[in-house]
Amino acid sequence: MSSQMSEVDSLTGGVADTLAVEIRGVHKWFGRSHILRGMDLAIPEGSLAVVLGPSGTGKSVLIQHITGIVRPDQGEVLVRGRALSRMSRSEVLKLRTDIGVMFQDGALFSSMDVFENVAFPLRQHTDLNDSEVHDVVSEHLAAVGLSDAGRRFPSQLSGGMKKRAGLARALVLDPGIVICDEPDSGLDPVRTALLADLLRERHAELGGTMIVVTHNMPLARRVADYAAVLWQGGVVESGPAEVIFNSSNEFVAQFVSSSKVGPLGMD
Ligand SMILES: Nc1ncnc2c1ncn2[C@@H]1O[C@H](COP(=O)(O)OP(=O)(O)OP(=O)(O)O)[C@@H](O)[C@H]1O
Ligand SMILES: [Mg+2]
Repeated sequence: MSSQMSEVDSLTGGVADTLAVEIRGVHKWFGRSHILRGMDLAIPEGSLAVVLGPSGTGKSVLIQHITGIVRPDQGEVLVRGRALSRMSRSEVLKLRTDIGVMFQDGALFSSMDVFENVAFPLRQHTDLNDSEVHDVVSEHLAAVGLSDAGRRFPSQLSGGMKKRAGLARALVLDPGIVICDEPDSGLDPVRTALLADLLRERHAELGGTMIVVTHNMPLARRVADYAAVLWQGGVVESGPAEVIFNSSNEFVAQFVSSSKVGPLGMD
């Protein structure tokens, strides 16, 4: 046990004793494109972790590996210490109910109003009756400031409202792990700051592990207690947020300071 704890300790820089997610040597090819190239990543249980990285570096593909939508060609994905490759299909499906995802493009059902969008996971995965569903959904809509928008359809929402509806839906099953894929995309800086505060608030209230995938540094600085920086299909550096945000690694320093000078170019 103590050797396992020290291993976790060294993986996370002492942030936690257990891991919510561990990626071990994962490779993924799509045709000839080698997207994940031996990625190693450890997300501490209970943390609010940001996964940073430039566009097209494989962040969304990584999320699909954590939820078991995509299988690695090599390597192992572990969620709360359990390897996905050793789970049966029904165990993977069950695991997915414990991982809430706020999708990059919102992915709200356009034919359903906000209330029904948020209610959907409850109707799929629980035996709650209509009045119980109503209570749970109302609570989650209130928490994201959408109490008055339940009967609106996605096309009638602003970008920020869509994000908040997506967050409410990701949280409604009270998952142990929540993953937010670029929650700031399409939002102005003020809405992004407000959303960052909302993410922090929900994480503090609900507990569990929250993983925020983004390339927005103001958002990352506002929410993170743990950070990992991805580039070219691997993790360049990871650890407590204050360590990463003050890193002397050339690539990480360029990325966190949004500098034009450094190894990252337009290619
Ligand atoms: N199913 C797929 N088939 C083929 N290529 C894919 C597939 N999914 C992703 N890719 C490719 O993998 C690469 C990484 O994509 P990904 O969406 O993970 O990037 P990202 O880091 O999330 O970028 P962004 O910040 O722009 O969202 C891209 O080149 C993309 O075209
Ligand atoms: Mg993406």
